[in-house]
Amino acid sequence: MKDERIEINYKSYDSLAELSDADAELLKKSEEARLNAYAPYSKFHVGAAIRLENGEIILGTNQENAAYPSGMCAERVALYYAGSQFPNSVIESIAVSAPSANALPVPPCGACRQVLLENEQRQIKKIRVLIGQTKGKIIEFDGSESLLPLAFKESFLR
Ligand code: THU
Repeated sequence: MKDERIEINYKSYDSLAELSDADAELLKKSEEARLNAYAPYSKFHVGAAIRLENGEIILGTNQENAAYPSGMCAERVALYYAGSQFPNSVIESIAVSAPSANALPVPPCGACRQVLLENEQRQIKKIRVLIGQTKGKIIEFDGSESLLPLAFKESFLR
């Protein structure tokens, strides 16, 4: 028997001012998008903003449903929109903004991490993930590998 170890690396920023202009803009857009969330049940409004390599910005918000499991997270709404409207465009980054009492970053759920991974495999390129709000700490992951270690991926199906 061996004890194995997985290390996860990420960057953290104390405030929006530490981000590049482009990243600060993307995070702002994800926060603004929260206004369009449809979350009458949880009242938890989440926004996501994707930047494609062609410069296009895609927004997503969580969309809930009276039949709870039919709802969808903001990240996946944005990722699926990108996949259907811009199937050949590479996703460079996604910013995610959700409310938190102490302005701490709220990381994406497991299902969204899995979909992020699928998109990376599809485009054969990592997607940067920025999580936070315009106020408070922001964290950045260089791709889904750090967010979802030991992931199930397409190669297992072959
Ligand atoms: N939610 C997201 O939009 N993204 C996440 O990564 C976590 C959760 C949404 C789903 C649901 O509408 C609400 O937040 C409460 O879970």
